[in-house]
Amino acid sequence: MGRMRKSLGRRVDDLAKWFLRFKLVSVPARLIANSSYAWSFISRTDRIRTNRLRDRLKQGELPEHISIIMDGNRRFAWNSNIGRDLGHHHGKEKLKDVMNWILDLEIPYFTVYALSTENMRERPEDELESLYDLYISGLDEIAADPRIHSRGVKVQAVGRLESLPSKVRDAIDRAESQTAGHSNFLFTVCLAYGGREEIVDAVREVATDHAKGELALESIDSAQISARMYTANLPDPDLVIRTSGEERISNFLLWQIAYSELHFTDVHWPSFSKNDLYEALESYQSRRRRYGE
Ligand code: FPP
Repeated sequence: MGRMRKSLGRRVDDLAKWFLRFKLVSVPARLIANSSYAWSFISRTDRIRTNRLRDRLKQGELPEHISIIMDGNRRFAWNSNIGRDLGHHHGKEKLKDVMNWILDLEIPYFTVYALSTENMRERPEDELESLYDLYISGLDEIAADPRIHSRGVKVQAVGRLESLPSKVRDAIDRAESQTAGHSNFLFTVCLAYGGREEIVDAVREVATDHAKGELALESIDSAQISARMYTANLPDPDLVIRTSGEERISNFLLWQIAYSELHFTDVHWPSFSKNDLYEALESYQSRRRRYGE
């Protein structure tokens, strides 16, 4: 029975490929519309299209470092008629999916903006509490995920971590220590993070080193500042994606994105799909990076 279903599935795949070749997908779909066959056919053609796009992307130059401003959890919740906290929960689940897609593409650095210093000042206490619980469960789930270990993903959190509750800091310590031995991929979560605050912290360190006589005035250059950023151990992002329609940077990696390509998409973070990621990468590959030339 299983073998028959598999061979039937392969035939439907072949048929889907054939129709795709002649761009005729809508015709058979319309003929069998409203049946479960139509939906299965459409989802197969979608999957084939997405896989083709992935193969094409892999032939081109992919970014080494992708960072994402995950925005729109509350608007997603509002539109879906569910509670705010459930919207954030879907956001956490989406992050795990996107991490897998990025691992499949072999992109070694992935960074997300999960909580800004402004969020900590402006969000109501009960929302922050439920976000903290989400970071704890999310970090624990990521650190326990067998794929994280088989693919060699090291996890780290950066930001003014001392301002987070100790239960969140403990979860960060657990995720970091359980993945400390890995070095194929680096996943960075920005928590209690602000780009200006990061620059202020770096400048303070520079000033301290100068006052101690360890750093001459004429030696202070952008490399010295970069070396004192929270992100000193990763390259600058090649591509920054922001979901949910807002076209601004909101204090994210201000120093590091000097030459990054920016991609804005209207979809709310919990609805961000593999195709949306591939679209962002397709747009990245179509651009010529100039670095001022
Ligand atoms: C912005 O959407 C999102 C956040 C403030 C939180 C994002 C957190 C997650 C996706 C979970 C991350 C989990 C781990 C483990 C790092 P918003 O609330 O500003 O939504 P809005 O733009 O619709 O108001």
